[in-house]
Amino acid sequence: MEKKILEFLKENKENFISGEEISRNLKVSRTAIWKHIQNLKENGYEIIAQPHYGYRLNGVPDRLLPEEISYRLKAKIMGKRIFSYVTTTSTNDVAYMLAEQSMPEGTLVLSEKQTNGRGRMGRTWASPAKGGLYFSLILRPRITPTEAGKITLMASICTAKVLRDNYGIEAVIKWPNDVYVNQDKICGILTEMNAEQDGINFIILGIGVNVNTDPLKLPKGSTSLKHILNKKINRIEFLKKLLCELELYYIKLKNLKFEEIITDWRDLSVTLGRRIKVKWRSSIIEGQAMDIDSSGALIVRDDFGFLHHILSGDVRIIK
Ligand code: BTN
Repeated sequence: MEKKILEFLKENKENFISGEEISRNLKVSRTAIWKHIQNLKENGYEIIAQPHYGYRLNGVPDRLLPEEISYRLKAKIMGKRIFSYVTTTSTNDVAYMLAEQSMPEGTLVLSEKQTNGRGRMGRTWASPAKGGLYFSLILRPRITPTEAGKITLMASICTAKVLRDNYGIEAVIKWPNDVYVNQDKICGILTEMNAEQDGINFIILGIGVNVNTDPLKLPKGSTSLKHILNKKINRIEFLKKLLCELELYYIKLKNLKFEEIITDWRDLSVTLGRRIKVKWRSSIIEGQAMDIDSSGALIVRDDFGFLHHILSGDVRIIK
C-alpha cells in the first residue's frame, strides 16, 4: 500500500493531495493512509501534511531503495529483480550466489557499503558507506567464455556515455574497463563468470562508481562525480540511466552487433595508438596499442613487430 501511496504522491508532485482523494482512489480509510504516511516519513520520505490541503511529497531519501529504482524504470531486463542491502561483503558475491539459485537475467544487487569490495587482479575496491554506487547484475548471454571481455567493454562504454551525455563530463576508457576523468579513476568494472568449456552459465557484471564519494576516502588517483561537478548527484537517477544504457548495449551484443560496440569503444579509448606496458601475471608486454579484436582482446604490436592479443591485464600508458 505504501508503494501505491508513494506513486500517487509522485504523480501529483507539484500539488497537495487530500487524504480523502488518496483514500477514495486507493480504497483505504483515511486513518490507514495517515498511518502509511507516518511509516514513509520514518523511512526518510519528506512528506508535508497541511491541514485542509492534504499531503505533498517534498523529497525522497538518499538510499538505494528498490521501489525508487524501479519507479518508471525504462529498462526491461536490467533491474527486473532488485536486492538492496545496507551492507554486504561484495555485491558480486551475493549476485553469484543468487545466480546459482537460478535468479533471472537482469537481477540487480546493490549495497550502500561493501566490507570486501573486490577489484580486478586481486585488488580491493574502496566501498565507503553512502555516496558510492556498488552494484552487480546477473547476465546469461549466449557467448563463449573467451568472449566474456565483451561484457566488460560494453559496461565501460555505457558508464562513460552516461557521464558524458547526462553530466557533460569528458569520461574516457582505459583498457579494458577503467573509466577515467581528467586522469583520475571514477569507475571500475569486475566481471566474473561461471562457465563450462563451451558456454557460459552466467556472468556477474559488477560496477563501482564514485558518485558522491569524498575522494579522501578513496585511493590516490581516484575522483568522484560530486567532486568534479561540485554538487551532490542523485544516485538513483544516475543508476537508472546506466541501467537503460546497459540494456541498450546488451541487446546490441545479443544481436551480434559487436562491430558497433567496438566503434564506440574506439572513440572513447585513451589506450589506442599509445605506447603501453601490459602486465599479465608474471609477463610484461611493451609496444603499441593497435586495436581490439572481435572478442574484446587488446592487440599490441611489440618492438619486433609481433602482434599479441591480450585478454586481460593491467595497462600502463608510457608517455
Ligand atoms: C576494478 O577497477 O578493479 C574493478 C572494481 C569493481 C568494483 C565493483 S563494486 C560492485 C562490485 N562488487 C565488488 O566487490 N566489486 C564490483
